[in-house]
Amino acid sequence: MSDSRPNVRLGRPDLGERELAEVAEVLESGMLTMGPKVDEFERLIAGICEVEHALAVTSGTAALHLAVLACRLEPGDEVVVPAYTFPATANVVALSGLKPVLVDVDAETMNIDPAKIEVGPRTRLILGVHLFGRPLRLHELPDGVPLLEDAAGALGARYRGRACGGLGIAGCLSFHPRKIVTTGEGGAVTTNDDAFADLVRQLRNHGWRSLVPPDMPIPALNYRLSDILCAVGIPQARRLDELHARFSALAAGYGERLAHLPVLLPRADDGDVHGWQAYVIQLDDRDRILQELRTRGIEAQIGTYALPLLGAYRDQGEFPGARRVFERALALPFHARLTEGELDRVSETLEAVLHP
Ligand SMILES: Cc1ncc(COP(=O)(O)O)c(C=O)c1O
Repeated sequence: MSDSRPNVRLGRPDLGERELAEVAEVLESGMLTMGPKVDEFERLIAGICEVEHALAVTSGTAALHLAVLACRLEPGDEVVVPAYTFPATANVVALSGLKPVLVDVDAETMNIDPAKIEVGPRTRLILGVHLFGRPLRLHELPDGVPLLEDAAGALGARYRGRACGGLGIAGCLSFHPRKIVTTGEGGAVTTNDDAFADLVRQLRNHGWRSLVPPDMPIPALNYRLSDILCAVGIPQARRLDELHARFSALAAGYGERLAHLPVLLPRADDGDVHGWQAYVIQLDDRDRILQELRTRGIEAQIGTYALPLLGAYRDQGEFPGARRVFERALALPFHARLTEGELDRVSETLEAVLHP
């Protein structure tokens, strides 16, 4: 049963005149990379995450890659990674010559289940994800193992009053178009540690410590983010509070409309603030519902991936939480321009397809 109305979009960045004006300034200046917009964007992001340093890079994956490299672990060292996450979280660990040790997630929070983390002699790091913007339960993590935050979707989220991205040795952000602040593609590493920040700065720029005289103590990569893209992010970072309030209102709007349905609604723990990167519910019969929503013009999507179901991460044991969430998670349309009418339409359509 198709719908003649335009589709309800899953995501749509809220960009306009302000972003155009910032980009125009860059083009007119002729300084397209390593210029003042990078510094300005980094200062804004550091302020939001309440840390000393933010280093802009080309993607959230690049941020994770550099942050893992900057931890300077030994080949074969083990890094704890949740079994349900975007694969980049584990991929950067494996590509850095380390061992991603998958740990199951809590089927309700969708975040890593701290009770399932086993600290062994080679466990060096927990790569904790605030999935879809929900802060993970830091207080339940084992003592003595440093935390690196995959805060790809958690800009603006807060754990017990503290900004996500500033909770561990470093945080990794993404500015992909489905994130609250987007640069098209982009990311950042956030940290309070001066030496860590210096190393990431070096690693994102080929390994240069200085150009004059040339000093390259380590081989590295080019993961620099251009001034053009930083310019796109600046106006959004400036109005993050406004964007976050909008997403919180949309989440509350879905919450009211869906409360009577047999679905698990997303939320943060009491005292925490959800970042609302996505609005991901859980329900039975997800594949059928997803298909039926799409047929009716609702651009829903699965949540993210169960790594043990992917070829790269098979044979690490049983992960019932990750499997259950992978089969049940459903991302509903969620972006700043979503209207009340569209919230109604998504919710009514969901109810209709739940009870055919
Ligand atoms: C949890 C998580 N980590 C890492 C990434 C990778 O970010 P990017 O797409 O900017 O490389 C994503 C992207 O969606 C993500 O959701």
